[in-house]
Amino acid sequence: MADQPIRYGIIGAGVIANYMARVFTEGRGSTAVAISDVNAEAAAKLAVAAGGVKKIYADYHQLLADPEVDAVYIATPPFLHKPMTIDALRAGKHVLCEKPFMLNQAEVREVSAVQKTVPQLKVLCASSRYHDAGIALKARAMVAQRELGELYHVSYTQVTGAPKPGTTLPPWRNNPAKNGGGMTYDWGPYDLDWLSWVLGDLFRPRVVFGTLGNYFPLTAERVPPCLDVDGHYCAQIICESGLTILWERRAAEHGPARHTIELRGKKGGLDTYFMPMPEKPGLQHYAYVGTDELKTTVLPDAPPNWDDAIVHPIRELTAAIRENRAPSNTLEDNVRIHGVIDALLTSAKTQQAVKVVT
Ligand SMILES: NC(=O)c1ccc[n+]([C@@H]2O[C@H](COP(=O)([O-])OP(=O)(O)OC[C@H]3O[C@@H](n4cnc5c(N)ncnc54)[C@H](O)[C@@H]3O)[C@@H](O)[C@H]2O)c1
Repeated sequence: MADQPIRYGIIGAGVIANYMARVFTEGRGSTAVAISDVNAEAAAKLAVAAGGVKKIYADYHQLLADPEVDAVYIATPPFLHKPMTIDALRAGKHVLCEKPFMLNQAEVREVSAVQKTVPQLKVLCASSRYHDAGIALKARAMVAQRELGELYHVSYTQVTGAPKPGTTLPPWRNNPAKNGGGMTYDWGPYDLDWLSWVLGDLFRPRVVFGTLGNYFPLTAERVPPCLDVDGHYCAQIICESGLTILWERRAAEHGPARHTIELRGKKGGLDTYFMPMPEKPGLQHYAYVGTDELKTTVLPDAPPNWDDAIVHPIRELTAAIRENRAPSNTLEDNVRIHGVIDALLTSAKTQQAVKVVT
């Protein structure tokens, strides 16, 4: 039994499920046995990509009732994540759910309450994509071992380029009721998951003061990729230890893409990044030697491989099920992550610092 692959049902056969599909064909402990999508054509296409899946269900409840399904990968628009995750847990299935995990912290708590009734079932959010990347692992180990001394500041800035001309987006992405918001929900969970993973126990957000908005609102002609929802955010997160995190993301501005993460401690500093940037060292360490010479050292690292990063959450959930251990991103992590997003939304509205609900 231990050698049998974990049998997945995929709910939602859109863009990301098609990227993920190859993990089920690589023979590394997981296989896809069923697909559900309200769009039969999309389901049939994914069935081929995921290794010749035979069972296709129009209604995901039928997939959940299938005894051959051990775990589900939920890759539907965000407003469906909570009902689908709860239904899956009640049907006895482990869950990998796409990001944003939920629409707010209250929804995470609802899922958490249900999971507590079935503690043998694992739940993981796919925001955990880079947990296996060499530079994130090394940075995490350095923070955990206090190699930088007491960490007092992190600056996390991501500026992404403009989408290619002609890019079209599904309508749910432009609808806060279905997507939560824009950039805050699309990329915020990745950022906060990275910070939570690398900072470990230091990521205990207490207060958020921030803003969000849209420099490029949808034009009268409604030409994508401009959006009605938010397209940038900038916030200060103050943690329990006093650590301050400057957290910002912008897109499609008149300037180059930039992915910079700076960690600063009382004994040393570390620069790293989130997305692949082959022209930059993955880990650059700084420390004063004596009082006036700043020593800069490029540390050996394994650059992120995004093919692996995309499929990592399935590999991680599969390993967590087999080893009967907690997955690398827990429901408690998601309570904190959504607590920060909720606080950012309130802070942006009220222009006040907002306490994170813990
Ligand atoms: N597109 C990306 O690059 C990307 C990357 C990472 C994560 N995500 C996340 O993954 C999720 C899905 O994104 P996407 O881009 O693949 O969306 P998409 O619109 O391409 O696909 C969503 C699919 O869900 C299906 N669906 C809708 N209602 C359903 C239902 N009741 N039952 C079964 N299927 C249903 C749709 O028919 C569609 O095929 C989102 O949460 C998104 O944030 C997307």
